[in-house]
Amino acid sequence: MTNDSAIGIHDLSFATTEFVLPHTALAEHNGADIGKYHQGIGQRSMSVPAADEDIVTMGAAAAAPLIARHGGDGIRTIIFATESSIDQAKSAGVYVHSLLGLSSATRVVELKQACYAATAGLQFAIGLVRRDPAQRVLVVASDVSKYEPDSPGEATQGAAAVAMLVGADPALVEIEEPSGVFTADVMDFWRPNYREAALVDGQESIGAYLLAVEGSWKDYTEQGGRSLDEFAAFCYHQPFTKMAYKAHRHLLNYSGHDLDEDRVARDLGLTTAYNNVVGNSYTASVYLALAALLDQADDLSGQAVGFLSYGSGSVAEAFAGRVVPGYREHLRTEAHRAAIDRRKPVDFARYRELHAYSFPADGGDHRTPAQTTGPYRLAALRGHKRIYTAR
Ligand code: COA
Repeated sequence: MTNDSAIGIHDLSFATTEFVLPHTALAEHNGADIGKYHQGIGQRSMSVPAADEDIVTMGAAAAAPLIARHGGDGIRTIIFATESSIDQAKSAGVYVHSLLGLSSATRVVELKQACYAATAGLQFAIGLVRRDPAQRVLVVASDVSKYEPDSPGEATQGAAAVAMLVGADPALVEIEEPSGVFTADVMDFWRPNYREAALVDGQESIGAYLLAVEGSWKDYTEQGGRSLDEFAAFCYHQPFTKMAYKAHRHLLNYSGHDLDEDRVARDLGLTTAYNNVVGNSYTASVYLALAALLDQADDLSGQAVGFLSYGSGSVAEAFAGRVVPGYREHLRTEAHRAAIDRRKPVDFARYRELHAYSFPADGGDHRTPAQTTGPYRLAALRGHKRIYTAR
């Protein structure tokens, strides 16, 4: 390997929760026409965590198959991106590092900027690999999206983790150099430290997202990025999958293209399949879109994929990846489908019970109800410490 090697995503794996709530159950509860969910926002179901699942258990479950396939050698950095953090000081990545049994010669850090932080993690990882192409960086994006019951946001919850191994000569997607970046101080979505559920102004958030699409694309173009017509597909952050359609139509219009619905369907159609049934997974969402695309598309070898990563507040980044010839041999399509299919449907009452369950905040010792059948669980809170176990 040399210093000018291609760098990008060498492997990618995702995990989601034990339970799932179909949107039909939500519609039955609140009297909404199911068309509002299925077509209006583009969601069919949402992943619901068990009481003993959180960003650490999902993150470790997503990353474990990468370590099983490649070993931990060469991983000297773990970057954990989340906006549903479990501790104000300690990185969730340190728990994942421990559960995976990785070398003590590792630096671990947690990153936050709403749904955008995994992209920052990916770019920082590329910088580290550029400095030493022998190293690999484990980037984990893991989130639980939680809104107030009976709020408009309730329909756009979800949870999942994506783990990516970033390195030189990647097997899946080379990340190209020019990036378009954009920041604007807006209050479209936020979660003060004293709240478990996020606060969101849905319409403000749609507008802020579209503004960030323009801003990041403008900068991407000014940095010498590809033209819109060169891309085979676009992976957008998908707080609800319809948002990708709104964003892409906006981008076509902004960049002077005619609104061609066949083209929009071709550019986005395969990227929504996982987010459509998982729901909003915040930092993981744009990379779940990539997983869905790679898992379903006819051979994309050598083709360019666009990424538009948005995080409320707001920061966005537009960049491109080139799909590496031979990538299909390295996909985890069956495991990804199994992660979705293994979820157990819950009825509305059970979902609300799980939603209302919050980790004890009284400072006492508590065991967590044993609910998950996943590989890792949050077993207890003891002496103010979260106790995780591996199966
Ligand atoms: N059939 C088909 N479509 C229907 C419908 C029906 N019966 N009823 C409504 N719709 C459509 C609406 O026209 C609308 O589509 P449009 O936006 O293209 O016009 C869509 O369904 C949603 O309806 P709306 O009345 O806007 O829903 P809402 O007030 O419940 O809000 C969200 C929807 C997405 C704004 C809300 O769920 C939310 O705020 N979610 C959080 C988003 C988030 O996380 N943002 C931060 C990160 S980016």
